[in-house]
Amino acid sequence: MNGKDPERVKEEAIPTKDGTVHRAIGTCEIETSVPCGLVIFGASGDLTKRRIGPALYRLHKHGLLPESFFILGTSRTGWSTEQFREQMRSAVKEAMPGAFDDSFWKELATKIYYSPIDYEMKESYLKCLKQGLPPIEKKHQTGGNRIFYLAIPPTLYENVIFNLGVNDLSKGEGGYTHIVIEKPFGRDLNSAKRLNSLLKNFFQESQIYRMDHYLALETVQNILMFRFANSIFEPLWNQKYIDHIQITAAETLGIEQRAGYYEEAGVLRDMFQNHIFQLLTLTAMEPPVAFSAEPVRDERVKAFRSVRPFPSNELNNYVVIGQYGRGEIDQEPVPGYREETGVSKSSTSPTFAAMKIWIDNWRWNGVPFYLRSGKRLSKHKTEISVHFKPVPYLMFSNTLGAPIEPNTLVLRVHPDEGMNLILQAKTPGSEVCLKSISMDFSYQKDVLMDAYEWVLLNCMHDDQLLFVREDGVEQAWSLLTPVIDRFESITKVDEFPNYAAGSSGPNNAALLLERDGRAWRPL
Ligand code: BG6
Repeated sequence: MNGKDPERVKEEAIPTKDGTVHRAIGTCEIETSVPCGLVIFGASGDLTKRRIGPALYRLHKHGLLPESFFILGTSRTGWSTEQFREQMRSAVKEAMPGAFDDSFWKELATKIYYSPIDYEMKESYLKCLKQGLPPIEKKHQTGGNRIFYLAIPPTLYENVIFNLGVNDLSKGEGGYTHIVIEKPFGRDLNSAKRLNSLLKNFFQESQIYRMDHYLALETVQNILMFRFANSIFEPLWNQKYIDHIQITAAETLGIEQRAGYYEEAGVLRDMFQNHIFQLLTLTAMEPPVAFSAEPVRDERVKAFRSVRPFPSNELNNYVVIGQYGRGEIDQEPVPGYREETGVSKSSTSPTFAAMKIWIDNWRWNGVPFYLRSGKRLSKHKTEISVHFKPVPYLMFSNTLGAPIEPNTLVLRVHPDEGMNLILQAKTPGSEVCLKSISMDFSYQKDVLMDAYEWVLLNCMHDDQLLFVREDGVEQAWSLLTPVIDRFESITKVDEFPNYAAGSSGPNNAALLLERDGRAWRPL
């Protein structure tokens, strides 16, 4: 490395024939972004501090941001550029203790600007963006490529989209204009449709990047690679060999400082409409004709369309909801949901849900998908487990006196990213004694890029593969809206809390599988 401090050297650039620059991350090459400017709405907010700022810093450190690049932060807070840089610096440093290098930060900081905005005032957009952007773009030679990232509360989306539109900021001036919208995208089917139609007044679908950071997690991206780059699993990936599939996203965290948002959202809007349903479609979808945005998104939507609507007259046999009471996490006492700051004492917002889903197509006919997610559970764990059917004839069962555990493939999304396949094998030294063994792969030694790094990089690259299309978001809402409406109208105050913090959820969630002669994988 030419005698330089190796820690200080960005990943070496790899020249390519078409003139693009690639960098080696781990053992893989990734194309550096094209020149562009990133405008962050909500620059003084939590999301910018916790996720966007650190992701930009890491992209810069990996050499994946182009030379011609800038960040313009904007929000209602009356900061100067200097104050914003300082705020970002301490947020990034806090987010990555031990991995922060001030010299990398200083390079990035020269490309960071700030300008306050009043989200409701047309004139404010003129000053901050219409007049404010061109000189910065000229200085950094970004060729007019712009990304507007809405890291703001959803209540402000309509205002900002409308004002960008009426100020002609949705139309590119020589380059692309992309708009990134965080979840939640609407709060039900109607509001999602309204938001989509407002967006379409000013933006083309190819400019709209609806976020679901789960789609960008390395291990979630791996689901498609794993399924379609190996010939041994796809022939088994159907109703002939699979008994059922479980998808779990369990958290030990509570709602932190987000009571206002969570009281409105609850777990069905917060985790199911987006993250869990996306995991479901990636597991269930058919092979796309090509590995690019539209073919992959076509198949994701097609999988959604095959999901059988929940029967409203026997919803309780399909969906279980819950809310945590007091309990212990890591042997420390934690309050119940209704005792959290900002939560109503009689709140009926669910913090846990489990559901059974049928997918009505040739591949999945008769295979239930069991989904569950909750806050304040005993473990932090997101995984997909594929439970294969037992062997057709159990020639060992008499000798063993116990049933053989069927094969299970576990895709571990996080933590401990990786996968394992549970098999039966002979116990050495015994005559006919079997034991479960696990073939295990762990990503631990690999350099994993954070979901927000992927999201930003793909948006800069004009690639919508990891984003949700209009029909995808509406399909997910059309499945869930009747369920949410029904529970909101029937749930009584005295039904909650129905699970203790630190447990594995309400008893009824266990019953959902027990009734079918199955059990959840332990958390
Ligand atoms: C967010 C939800 O989208 O995802 C949070 O709003 C949740 O409530 C989080 O905690 C989980 O994401 P991750 O990446 O920590 O599993």
